[in-house]
Amino acid sequence: MPDQLLSVQGLDVGYGRVPVVRAASLDVACGEIVTIIGANGSGKSTLLKAVAGLLRPSAGHVMLDGEDVTGLAPERLVRKGLAFVPEGRMLFGPMSVSENLALGAHTRRAAAEVATDLARVHALFPVLADRAGQPAATLSGGEQQMLAIARALMSRPRILLLDEPSLGLAPKVIADIFGVLDALRAEGLGIVLVEQDANLALRHAQHGHVMRSGRVVMSGTAAELAGNDDVRLIYLGVWHGDE
Ligand SMILES: Nc1ncnc2c1ncn2[C@@H]1O[C@H](COP(=O)(O)OP(=O)(O)OP(=O)(O)O)[C@@H](O)[C@H]1O
Ligand SMILES: [Mg+2]
Repeated sequence: MPDQLLSVQGLDVGYGRVPVVRAASLDVACGEIVTIIGANGSGKSTLLKAVAGLLRPSAGHVMLDGEDVTGLAPERLVRKGLAFVPEGRMLFGPMSVSENLALGAHTRRAAAEVATDLARVHALFPVLADRAGQPAATLSGGEQQMLAIARALMSRPRILLLDEPSLGLAPKVIADIFGVLDALRAEGLGIVLVEQDANLALRHAQHGHVMRSGRVVMSGTAAELAGNDDVRLIYLGVWHGDE
C-alpha cells in the first residue's frame, strides 16, 4: 500500500473555460488531517469539488491508494472510499435524520454492517439518535453539520473531505465536532479540511496548505504554518510579537 492515501498532483480546475485553481498538489496519509486555508475566493472549495469528482480537472491527477481516479463520478469515488461533506451540508430537509443516514449508506449492501455503522455514528453524535425521526430541516445548524458528517461516515470512507464544517456554528458545537474529527483521525481516517478559521484548522491538522488566487502558495506542518510570520499576520490575525 502506498504511504499516501490521497495524492493530488498538479491539478488545474475551473468553471467552463474559466480557470480557477492552478497546479494544486497535496497529499494525505491515513490518520492525518490536512487543512487548506486561504481567503474568500482563493479556490479552496473548487479544489475540493474537483477531488470529490464534482468538477472535472483540465490537468493533473487525483490518486487514491495509488489508483488514478481523476475524473471519476462522485458516486464511484464514494464506493472507493472517498466521502465529501460540502459547504451548506446538502441534507434532504423534509426527510428524517434516519432517512438521511440511510441514504449515506446506499452504496453498501450488508444490512449488518450498516446497522453497526449506524450505532457508531450515534455513539459519535448522540444527538442524532435522539432526533432520529425529526426532519433534517428542523435541526439546529450544529446538528445539521453533525448529520452531514455522519451521513458521509455511513459510506465507510477512508478519506473524508470537509468544506467549512465550522461555518456559522457556536464555539461549543465547533469543539464537539472537531473532537469527533480528532477521534476519527486517530482511528486512521484521512481528512481534508477546508477552513476559513485558520486558528482552528491549524490546531487540529497535522499538515496544511495556504491557497491564494487559485494556487497553493505555502505548505508545511501545521506547526510550521502556525509559526510562519506571513500566515500569522494574514490568516491568524497576529502581529509580530503579539500573542
Ligand atoms: N459555479 C461557479 N462558476 C463560476 N465561477 C465560480 C463558481 N464557483 C466559484 N467560482 C469562482 O471561483 C473562485 C474560487 O471560488 P471558491 O468557491 O473555490 O473559493 P473559496 O476559497 O472556497 O472561497 P470561500 O472561502 O468564500 O468559500 C472565485 O473567484 C469564484 O467566484
Ligand atoms: Mg469555499
